[in-house]
Amino acid sequence: MKKLTTAAGAPVVDNQNIQTAGPRGPALLQDVWLLEKLAHFDREVIPERRMHAKGAGAYGTFTVTHDITRYTRAALFSEIGKQTPMFARFSTVAGERGAADAERDIRGIAMKFYTEQGNWDLVGNNTPVFFFRDPLKFPDLNHAVKRDPGTGMRSAQNNWEFWTGLPEALHQITIVMSDRGIPSDFRHMHLFGSHTFSLINAANERFWVKFHFKSQQGIRNLTDAQAAELIGRDRESSQRDLYDSIARGDFPRWTLYIQVMPEQEAGSYHLNPFDLTKVWPHGDYPMIEVGTLELNRNPENFFAEVEQAAFTPANVVPGIGFSPDRMLQARLFSYGDAQRYRLGVNHHQIPVNAPRCPFHSYHRDGAMRVDGNHGGLTGNEPNRSGEWADQPDFREPPLSLEGAADHWNHREDTDYFSQPGALFRLMTPEQQQALFDNTARAIAGVSPDVQARHIEHCTQADPAYGAGVAAAIRKLEG
Ligand code: HEM
Repeated sequence: MKKLTTAAGAPVVDNQNIQTAGPRGPALLQDVWLLEKLAHFDREVIPERRMHAKGAGAYGTFTVTHDITRYTRAALFSEIGKQTPMFARFSTVAGERGAADAERDIRGIAMKFYTEQGNWDLVGNNTPVFFFRDPLKFPDLNHAVKRDPGTGMRSAQNNWEFWTGLPEALHQITIVMSDRGIPSDFRHMHLFGSHTFSLINAANERFWVKFHFKSQQGIRNLTDAQAAELIGRDRESSQRDLYDSIARGDFPRWTLYIQVMPEQEAGSYHLNPFDLTKVWPHGDYPMIEVGTLELNRNPENFFAEVEQAAFTPANVVPGIGFSPDRMLQARLFSYGDAQRYRLGVNHHQIPVNAPRCPFHSYHRDGAMRVDGNHGGLTGNEPNRSGEWADQPDFREPPLSLEGAADHWNHREDTDYFSQPGALFRLMTPEQQQALFDNTARAIAGVSPDVQARHIEHCTQADPAYGAGVAAAIRKLEG
């Protein structure tokens, strides 16, 4: 058995009794083991993620089953059968680190693919759209869905005042209030990259792309009543389900599909393809099968591998790129920035975050630099030894842009309601009734003007949607 030492490696002689002045006297400052133990304990908690604080993770493998090399030169998609190791973290959004899993909320899915050309992170949700189109509203969303500054409690009033203040949120609200709003666990739900990204092929042609992972386990959801009962028994229900299923060898799998739009079609398509509140109808851009994602290994240490995992949409690899989506553009900054605060400037060195290919960035120094810090290698570029040379072969094709710099008003597109209306009409009568009842329970007690505003938006999507929500609220509130 290994014997206890201090962090400096010296034997700890007594881990049961502190040093005191006599058997009943006060503690001695020279009991350095006591000081070290308490000091470390006092610093064990790191800041939680500002959103998506509650989560669970697992390692897995992505396997290519279909050839998409005409769209992308990304190494991970280079040939059928190719396997790439990856790490995934699932989460809820609004709850803090200790929140229950079975809440009505979006589920996050962050994936890190350790490719031979660097890490590709796809940081998405279990919904294909989001509440709004402009990133300036993101901090407001979080203030609205998290705790009220005065009471310290979650507030349906704040939540619905904010949501209904943004008519473009109805699409996402409709999904969250639908029967899919509480997935039974992390395995029985689809996963989406949500934004439009780009693919670049070997001929340096650009395509716009959306990523969809369809659950091979199927879809399984909880009603509000089932979720309440489950939370009473188990606050970690989704985390436990993922861990246990992997531990018993029942590996969850998803099939990756992409939707692809040639670059030049973006200008003429009837929707703004970079609007995160809208989907691309599959009739216009069909689903193209790509491969299989399998999660097959649990982490050995939750803090080291899950809590310290750092994903960012800024991590792309040659053959995969960004798009002009304003929300995506802001996210390219926010994640790394949050992680420099949450984990430190050298968080890339934490094993779960480090690339598995050779890497050679010339960042140096900073708090908690724990590798050799590049030893005596030159720290400047240009230099006479050709160190740190950039790699122009991986340059993307130029992207044509037009227009003067301004705060362009995204509300010039006022089509907030056609897609939520279409989604509503796709639902069975039972699903529509569940949508009405879930909405009524969530909005109950909120001020009548805010309820009326939501009903008005639902009515614009479909008169039956508005009437159904209004009736369900009346029934609940009397
Ligand atoms: C986590 C910002 C929109 C999915 C986070 C974090 C920040 C953030 C700061 C915590 C990162 C960390 O501490 O490691 C933003 C901003 C957004 C935005 C500024 C919009 C302007 C979105 C959207 C999606 C998304 C649209 C999905 C399509 C996630 C996920 C996580 C996360 C899955 C958890 C990552 C993990 O498991 O570590 N976001 N976010 N976010 N966000 Fe966003």
